[in-house]
Amino acid sequence: MIVLDQENRIFTLHTKHTTYQIKADQYDVLLHTYYGPRVDGADLSSLIQCAGRSFSPNPSQAGTNRTYSLDIMPQEYSTCGVGDFRLPSIELELPSGSHTCDLRYCGVQKQKGKYTLNGLPAFFAGETEAETLIVHLNDAAAQVMVSLYFGVFEHLDLITRAVKITNVGEQPVHLCRCASLCLDFLRCDMDFITFNGHHLMERCLDRGPLRSGIQSVGSVRGASSHQHNPFVMLCDHNADEDIGVCYGAMLLYSGNFEAAVECSQYENSRLVMGIHPYHFGWTLEPNGSFTAPEAAMVCSPNGFGQMSRQYHRAIREHLLREPWAGQRKPVLVNNWEATYFNFNADKLTEIAKEAAPLGIELFVMDDGWFGRRNDDNAGLGDWYVNTEKLPGGLEALVPRIRELGMKFGIWMEPEMVNEDSQLYQQHPDWVLCVPCRNPARGRGQLVLDFSRKDVREHIYGQLKKVLSSADISYVKWDMNRSLTDVWSAALPAGRQGEVYHRYVLGVYDMLERLRQDFPQILIEGCCGGGGRFDGGMLYYTPQIWCSDDSDAIDRLRIQYGTSFCYPVTTMGAHVSAVPNEQNGRVTPLETRGTVAMSGAFGYEMDLSKCTEAEKQVIRQQIETYKARYALIHQGDYYRLANPFQNSGYTAWEQVSPDKREALVSVVLGCTHAAPPFRTLSLKGLDPKLNYQADGTGPLYSGATLMKAGWPLPQVPGDYQSFQFYFRAVR
Ligand code: DGJ
Repeated sequence: MIVLDQENRIFTLHTKHTTYQIKADQYDVLLHTYYGPRVDGADLSSLIQCAGRSFSPNPSQAGTNRTYSLDIMPQEYSTCGVGDFRLPSIELELPSGSHTCDLRYCGVQKQKGKYTLNGLPAFFAGETEAETLIVHLNDAAAQVMVSLYFGVFEHLDLITRAVKITNVGEQPVHLCRCASLCLDFLRCDMDFITFNGHHLMERCLDRGPLRSGIQSVGSVRGASSHQHNPFVMLCDHNADEDIGVCYGAMLLYSGNFEAAVECSQYENSRLVMGIHPYHFGWTLEPNGSFTAPEAAMVCSPNGFGQMSRQYHRAIREHLLREPWAGQRKPVLVNNWEATYFNFNADKLTEIAKEAAPLGIELFVMDDGWFGRRNDDNAGLGDWYVNTEKLPGGLEALVPRIRELGMKFGIWMEPEMVNEDSQLYQQHPDWVLCVPCRNPARGRGQLVLDFSRKDVREHIYGQLKKVLSSADISYVKWDMNRSLTDVWSAALPAGRQGEVYHRYVLGVYDMLERLRQDFPQILIEGCCGGGGRFDGGMLYYTPQIWCSDDSDAIDRLRIQYGTSFCYPVTTMGAHVSAVPNEQNGRVTPLETRGTVAMSGAFGYEMDLSKCTEAEKQVIRQQIETYKARYALIHQGDYYRLANPFQNSGYTAWEQVSPDKREALVSVVLGCTHAAPPFRTLSLKGLDPKLNYQADGTGPLYSGATLMKAGWPLPQVPGDYQSFQFYFRAVR
């Protein structure tokens, strides 16, 4: 609910459990007065205290009042050069050469429904599902208008934000920085939580107290990156899964980003999140505007678990688009770890033949089917079938797979090119490349300049031809290197700062076209695993390959970290062969199934090498997954035991919205002789309902299972796992 108090110029956004408040003060400065657990009917600017502070300047309007300073007061969208020395949200270069920006309130609007953003991913909502607040700010000297957009999803405790900057003057203005979110707190006694890692180990949680100065994570790799995720949290020092106030901030963007928190001199803090200012610049011609990508905040008064569940619901219901939002996604088998580049039509058909009777519904042909692609040094850019491997092309192969009752999917990496390709021979000038320099290679490949429409047009034409040539149900859209040598032949020197962002807009444009032209195709995002796992991609690709590390034990950490923001339905997760290809670990097939099943489930192994007993396990896993699909994918997710703590096991739970069903998954670590007896406390059940595990045995009330717990069995052997299915019987 949005409450506009026009007289006092106080704008309050209420969600079910939280309140966010903004106030335009006597000098038209837009103050941020509060964000936190819900409070009703108050002017929270009373929380802001002023006192004269040396070296904190006073705006001229304040006259002789030395207690008023932008440097001390919490700002809704921080400026620079005019008295606030903390993290700026916006920076302009004006025709005069000045970099100052001074924004003042000049109007407010409230609308039913949720605003949309042209060409950018955004949460969506029907007219009655959300409300929009737009607050207009103006810098009269710079002749720039700034509109702050807020989308309020009351029942989800979700507040989205976007920012539009418009040049209302007569000369071009250069935008050097434009954050999507600025969030000021009158405190800094909080922990900063980020999700970090590298290729093969993404989104590991890191937590530490705020310290004086600036702490930040970000990416300047052109993609949101394996190294840092565009989702961060701030929370009370004592916050855990169930207690404490915590704030999540998610950027729906797939390129360079920065999330920075500053703990300032008077123990206030400010979180600023948006496109990374490194090599960013945007020229605003007269009447031109720039829209910063959307950010989405959730505040939970009751710990991380509640915050995650709100994000999960919001993403499932208002970010993932039809038809896949409400439809069961097929169980797939992918040939990558089974064959790498070494396959032909017969080998693929052999794997598919093994897969179909097990209940697998989709066969995905990974890298290596096109051009002269027999290893990763050649072929990217030549999106036509290699008929030596696949005689008769897709027209011959796809019907063979379809005859088995399976759907067919295909891998692509449209943003890239190998020098050893026809495309590069014909268009060497289409790559990102700085004049007079040889561009760096990554995985032996170069990056196509997707900021250019002509380049995208050409690639799209090739993709469309391939996808129209056969009955194709799925595309894996991969991206296997970071961007370097970012310079576009299509833009003048003064606009090269636009290339990174235009590249991302180009990727979004291609994905949107693909969605429009092939609505039946399920697109899985991928970037060497989880190097572009972000809310921006999820708007186009409802699932993303979580990591190139398919080892079940490493995956516990990766999927745990990912779950803080993103729901399990978005996490591509496969059972692969042992010893694991990435780390050599041997885990039981049952455990690999338990872990992958809490995701967009599939297999990535040569099924023709499985024994009959293994096939029976796989058949059973797929049956369980299909039977429990709604519970796993739409249930409320609870993290029960953290894989980073040395408790000997990791556990999580999905509970149906009516609380009548729960699936508890437990994975043990390395085995020890005479291990301790363990009891696991469940969460999210109805205390008054009686539940039975796996259809047999005694009944336990929800209260008993949550308070007294459930005994974990002891079994010998490393990395054993259990799944318990609880159902309310009365
Ligand atoms: C990286 C992906 O993450 C893998 O799953 C696989 O598709 C390879 N690329 C293929 O080159």
